[in-house]
Amino acid sequence: MDVEHILSQMTLEEKAAFCSGGDFWHTKALERLGVPSVMMCDGPHGLRKQGAEADHLGINDSIKAVCFPTAAALAASFDRSLLHTLGEVLGEECQAEDVSMLLGPGLNIKRSPLCGRNFEYFSEDPYLAGQLAAAYVNGLQGKGIAACPKHFAANNQETLRMSGSSEVDERTLHEIYLSAFEDMVKESAPRSMMCSYNQINGVYASENRELLTEILRDQWGFDGFVVTDWGAGKDRVKGIAAGVDLEMPGRDNPEQVAKIVAAVQSGELPEEQLDQTVSRILTYIKGYMDGRRPEAQLDLETDHIRSVHASEECAVLLKNARDILPLSKEQRVAFLGDFARAPRYQGAGSSHINSHKVVGAVEAAQAAGLNVTFAQGYLAQTSEPNPDLLERAAECAKRADVAVIFAGLPDSYESEGFDRTSMAMPANQNALIEAVASVNPNTVVVLHNGSPVEMPWADQAAAILELYLGGEGVGEAAVDLLYGTANPSGKLAETFPIKLEDNPSFLNFPGEDGIVEYREGVFVGYRYYDKKKMAVRFPFGHGLSYTSFVYGDIQLDKAQLTDRESLTVTCKVKNTGTRLGKEVIQLYVRDEQSRVNRPVRELKGFEKVELAPGEEKTVSFTLGKKAFAYYEPKIHDWFVESGTFTIEIGSSSRDIRLAAQVTVEGTVTLPVHFTEFSTFGQILATPKGQTLIGHIFQKFSAGAAGQHGDIEADAAGMQTMQSMMMDMTLDAVSKFIGMTDEQISGILAELN
Ligand code: GLC
Repeated sequence: MDVEHILSQMTLEEKAAFCSGGDFWHTKALERLGVPSVMMCDGPHGLRKQGAEADHLGINDSIKAVCFPTAAALAASFDRSLLHTLGEVLGEECQAEDVSMLLGPGLNIKRSPLCGRNFEYFSEDPYLAGQLAAAYVNGLQGKGIAACPKHFAANNQETLRMSGSSEVDERTLHEIYLSAFEDMVKESAPRSMMCSYNQINGVYASENRELLTEILRDQWGFDGFVVTDWGAGKDRVKGIAAGVDLEMPGRDNPEQVAKIVAAVQSGELPEEQLDQTVSRILTYIKGYMDGRRPEAQLDLETDHIRSVHASEECAVLLKNARDILPLSKEQRVAFLGDFARAPRYQGAGSSHINSHKVVGAVEAAQAAGLNVTFAQGYLAQTSEPNPDLLERAAECAKRADVAVIFAGLPDSYESEGFDRTSMAMPANQNALIEAVASVNPNTVVVLHNGSPVEMPWADQAAAILELYLGGEGVGEAAVDLLYGTANPSGKLAETFPIKLEDNPSFLNFPGEDGIVEYREGVFVGYRYYDKKKMAVRFPFGHGLSYTSFVYGDIQLDKAQLTDRESLTVTCKVKNTGTRLGKEVIQLYVRDEQSRVNRPVRELKGFEKVELAPGEEKTVSFTLGKKAFAYYEPKIHDWFVESGTFTIEIGSSSRDIRLAAQVTVEGTVTLPVHFTEFSTFGQILATPKGQTLIGHIFQKFSAGAAGQHGDIEADAAGMQTMQSMMMDMTLDAVSKFIGMTDEQISGILAELN
């Protein structure tokens, strides 16, 4: 395909029609010029390829495919190579099924535990989300399949998602809600991006030129094409002008084609803008055709095994009192709860996969010849306790050495399309845990949930294993993990607060009348809980292992650097236990002197390493400008302040093992404009300001403080007066000391 030639041969009508799809899942064909129609479909953690009956909510059927762990679980792996491999596996499946683009990954930030689609998103931290998304995109696109990261941007809830407006200040927007997309675009060059349904500060994403052209393309260098979320297209003339190239789902819409043609003919829409749009879509189709491998095979059985192993890598061991886990084959074990038989392993909505094979933990354990009994304990699709089921489960627990309860959230509690209203698990599941723990102290809870839950029973459970929505292999993975065939190595990619009300977005979620004010600013997730020194149920980055790790010997390759240089940080980690295990070493940065309000620590590096018993490895991190910077609206860019920064290395955000300090020199000076209402503090912060008004400051503060013969008291009085003067304006002080207007304007002219 010669894109430029095809474009030059297309009529205006053909071009206008081409920027809308051919049907629910395909682009338009252009037989006359040899342009094929290509198919795209959901993701992100499996292939949801539909036949004639198409929908965007997982209602109609789709082909048999393997359901992998959802993003919430994958993020807990903290493993770039796992995400990269998943991307490759899905890319191979897409080649086998002639699918040109997979609609994912989802990398919206988890602002509230209540968001119905949290299971489909990675983290509350943009660095982690961006790194893992980039790995997935690189894996997928390495197989010739386009990724379509979504939903760009600030789509952090389901309530009124198609019409509401996310009201976010510029610093918060860039530092938290765009940052993961920015890192991903720069590190994986996605061929596409999906714009979201919602408005951002009153402008729909699908008509938002600042977002889709000025930021995404001009600032970040994105060179793919933008597709709407399904049904998110509004006025297509405005959309094309804003940078939205393809409207989906496609439909025959002659009046819209006519509108675009008229806009070009009237000059409202420059034709080269329409040409650019068509060229981007043609380039995507060409990219697919050039990399087409029809010989690829869909190997469901092999991919199922991959899904089991992926789930094992994502599991987070939250608690393990008395090392009750791993279990031994000699023990009598009770598996309790409906999820033990039929695990909840994926979410509802557009990501819903018609799974190849789902094996419950009970079936997997018994197939492995393990001494496991079962009692249902609760009905997954109901919420009220059933006394008879409880009674039988308690009896079963009494006869066991260890009671393992499989619990979490049912489909009806969280999904695309609506948000949760509480963090509570169903009453019948909490009742089961209480009842079992009261008869057997060796109670283990295994969780299947797409987002944080309240755990009123956390102290009664001896162990808690978080599997999230771990894909179709989660039942087999659970048995491997419980019996130690696999050693848990996941870490929480989101904080589990003790109660919903502790969450920083609580007072402003889901907003009112469709207006959602992100009033917590950058203090999302652990950034908030750490700043407030709040207790949480389990912190960001937390996850235990069946072995133990010791950290040591942190080294920085520089004691100081500018914001144009990079810093290399190394440390050693040793497996001091008796089992092979993996550890996620996390690196956090803190700005010790900041003119703006910054978090106590921010994740800026992580590495997952496997260590045999007694083995020690050196882990290395490279920190660039963004590791130290915050987003400064005054310059519409990331900005590093000069000063001391602390580098922390830990096994979780609240289990810091090593720390070191470094001095960073910022090479960018912020533009300052002084007026008569500037304060002495602001003016004296500059060398020129000290020259121009330092003497006034000294004279006035000395005069006002006065001399009373007592040197210490006078010095203290002077100090107090000078502190008070810092926030006094030049205008006010000039009135006290009789400065003239021209004296003031002279000083201001000099300063500016
Ligand atoms: C849905 C979702 C989006 C999905 C698309 C196609 O509404 O928001 O994630 O890829 O439509 O199903």
